[in-house]
Amino acid sequence: MLSSPTRPMEAKGDLIVGHTYVDESWDFRYENTKTLTHCFHSYPAVMIPCVAERLISEYGKHASLLFDPYCGSGTSLVEANMKNIAAIGTDLNPLARLIARAKTANINPQVLDLYLKDFADYIFSVAFGMQSVNAVIPPVKNMDYWFSCSVQEQLAIIKHFIMRIEDEAVADFFKVAFSETVRESSWTKNSEFKLLRMSAIQRERFRQDVFSMVQCKLARNRRGLKEMLEGNQQRAKSVIMDFNTVEGSHAIPRNSVDIVVTSPPYGDSRTTVAYGQFSRLSNEWLDIEDASQLDNRMLGGRVSKETQPVGFTLLDDVIVQIAQQDAKRAREVAAFYADYSCSIRNVAKTLKKGGYACYVVGNRKVKGMVLPTDETTRFFFERQGFCHVKTVIRNIPNKRLPARNSPTNQAGITDTTMSREYIVVMEKRESVA
Ligand SMILES: C[S@@+](CC[C@H](N)C(=O)[O-])C[C@H]1O[C@@H](n2cnc3c(N)ncnc32)[C@H](O)[C@@H]1O
Repeated sequence: MLSSPTRPMEAKGDLIVGHTYVDESWDFRYENTKTLTHCFHSYPAVMIPCVAERLISEYGKHASLLFDPYCGSGTSLVEANMKNIAAIGTDLNPLARLIARAKTANINPQVLDLYLKDFADYIFSVAFGMQSVNAVIPPVKNMDYWFSCSVQEQLAIIKHFIMRIEDEAVADFFKVAFSETVRESSWTKNSEFKLLRMSAIQRERFRQDVFSMVQCKLARNRRGLKEMLEGNQQRAKSVIMDFNTVEGSHAIPRNSVDIVVTSPPYGDSRTTVAYGQFSRLSNEWLDIEDASQLDNRMLGGRVSKETQPVGFTLLDDVIVQIAQQDAKRAREVAAFYADYSCSIRNVAKTLKKGGYACYVVGNRKVKGMVLPTDETTRFFFERQGFCHVKTVIRNIPNKRLPARNSPTNQAGITDTTMSREYIVVMEKRESVA
């Protein structure tokens, strides 16, 4: 088998090499990752809140604006706001934007509690036949394949209430609990990000009280919100945007951001984390735009017919070696890094001189070869006038990732996936046109 690029600090355990080193104090192995509104809704490959918090403490001491170009469920935005730093996040996935909005909203707790009480009364009266509701079941693709009839009916009754909530922040709060309920009451295998259905036996045994489920989630989220309000009632705000980081946006002026804290996808959605598939049922139940094409729009979603060199020898050498085994996979990998390079150019422009870009990345394997995303991130930023501050290597104790993947996409042939991630910190020294 062809070897991966030499990575001395990994090969020799915890040896410190330059500014790249293993530091277990970044593992946060025993920390509660579900504090504050971080308890809202699960999301694939979330950032550990303690990592975001520590990066902001170390590199955003005097920051007034944070940007997360792959904000996902909004972990870094919440942490910034708690430190009175305003934040901007963008994400292509509408479900991610919904969760991030709900987690960072300045919601009026008194208004929320009135709605929660109304909802409890509504569910009670419907469940005990005191009220009948003309709830419409939405046109979710293959609805009967994913949901039993009784689950469909109960979900439609819940949705009927939510769609009548006028306060936007309150509506988002309910939608997040509803979305999680959609996923958990469906016949999808919850341990997978991809949409895979339970076996017939599992489906037979699967009984869900959807009304209780959504109420448990609402109560849990209300507790998280209370903790957040008690922690900082006057916290700063977040704005959640919807633009592709590969294309960039004029909405964020050049040289306006003090710190970027983000975790980009590990690779294209088709072969790594299927964000689109993870979110499809929720998005369709909530009448959110067509989610089926989402994975094609994400980093590396469009593959060209030829493998273009990325321009970074260490990475290009690995891509050449992959191409010797599988030309199509090599093109997919190259497409991902071409998009990643464009997105870094766009992100770099938004940062002020002296500002920091903190990227939490994973070095995944393709065809048995490690893709050096940490060093590629560093290279792409250096091209934009940044200097490398440090790269911390942390173990991933909590992140929900498959421990093994299928590098060949053939059933039964698996390889270990990442157990470490790399926190790459770069400082902007000059602006590149
Ligand atoms: C690793 S996740 C981020 C998780 C986030 N840090 C959290 O704690 O929830 C990467 C995110 O990048 C988003 N994404 C992928 N390609 C994108 C693009 N081109 N522009 C904007 N967002 C993109 C995905 O939808 C996904 O939510």
